[in-house]
Amino acid sequence: MATIEELDEQAREILRRNDRGGYSVPTAGLYPYQWNWDSAFSAYGYAEFDIDRAWTELETLFSGQWDNGMVPHILFHQADDGYFPGPDVWGAQGHGPIDSSGISQPPVAAAFARRIHDLDPSVGAERVGALFEPMLKWHRWFMKCRGESGAICITHPWESGRDNAPSWDKSLAAVDASNVGPYVRRDTGHVDASMRPTKYDYDRYIAIVNFGRDNNWDEDVILTDGPFRVADPTMTFTLLRSHRDLSYLGQELGRDTSEVDGWIEELESGAASLWNETIGAYDTKDLRTGEFGGTASSASFLNWYGGVENGVALDTLKQFNAGTKYGVASHDPRLGSFDPKRYWRGPVWAVVNYLVGSGLGSCGHMQEAEKIRQDTAELISKNGFAEYYDPNTGEPAGGGSFSWTAAVWLSWASPSAGEGN
Ligand code: GLC
Repeated sequence: MATIEELDEQAREILRRNDRGGYSVPTAGLYPYQWNWDSAFSAYGYAEFDIDRAWTELETLFSGQWDNGMVPHILFHQADDGYFPGPDVWGAQGHGPIDSSGISQPPVAAAFARRIHDLDPSVGAERVGALFEPMLKWHRWFMKCRGESGAICITHPWESGRDNAPSWDKSLAAVDASNVGPYVRRDTGHVDASMRPTKYDYDRYIAIVNFGRDNNWDEDVILTDGPFRVADPTMTFTLLRSHRDLSYLGQELGRDTSEVDGWIEELESGAASLWNETIGAYDTKDLRTGEFGGTASSASFLNWYGGVENGVALDTLKQFNAGTKYGVASHDPRLGSFDPKRYWRGPVWAVVNYLVGSGLGSCGHMQEAEKIRQDTAELISKNGFAEYYDPNTGEPAGGGSFSWTAAVWLSWASPSAGEGN
């Protein structure tokens, strides 16, 4: 098995190889563009060896910000035929300076900006000074365009970053996909179809994209008539955490933080609406029907990352993790719908482990945090820098040489990492 030094070097090499000049692709082939939360993770990985490059990653991400404040989930910097759906399907040209998708992704950028700032405040103060307003504007967009229930919702499963999680099954079933027509998927040309979402799910993903495009990505129409609107713990807790870190940065920079501080209070109380007593965990909630998704997922345990303590959730997490060799599975291993190889329906993801583990650590749950960090380190050191892993066998699945897995290794899981060790 490779030594720690060798693994650290492999991780740096993956980031360098996935660098397309100012931004990183998640992995060559399968994901040939800049993805929002992947980039924020990558920035944190770069910060371990090249702080200037770390800031550039975040700056390039925000260079695609829309006029309304939204920061897209994909920036299509250079055309690539290997990915579907591309810019023409999204039809979002003109909303922002760079061709992009029409939805966002979990807002972890400000949380990482704070960590990168703290690694070297002499460089950080200047770089974050220029990013502060764009980050504030993005957070304001979330509060205005996704926050009407108190918690933060998504308008497309892709917005949550957990594309085919069972959390969306009931809400997706209500999406009419009869008008989608023929299209050619590209993902299953790169990765075995058994590890990817089904055609049933994909038809509905495309139907929701078509709705946004046909309505020119008008947030008012999407709010009232959009086919999918589900409040989500991933969005709610990552935004809560990023609000806290943005407020911290604002204070460091001598800016007015009263607006952000108000949002923190709003979200703390909004997050409580996602508590599902029946499953003892934070859950998704369909804002059209008022119904919970009804299943715990790895996102259920992001409350600590958001700075929200909950003893019952801690018990549930222990039971959840007892169901697989490696935690944290993306879906509840105690349920029949658990599928250890299919994307967000069972596999364990290093990035979510970082969010859950570092959150637990920052709330003082050192033992639980350390267990998740060790599981992540073992998965990566034995099986490489995969997109995700089978939580029972550890087998790598999905794409390989993944930027954010490399970044999580460098910044957190590796015994040589700066944070949490
Ligand atoms: C998939 C994941 C999403 C990620 C993207 C690029 O769509 O579900 O979370 O951002 O791939 O890695």
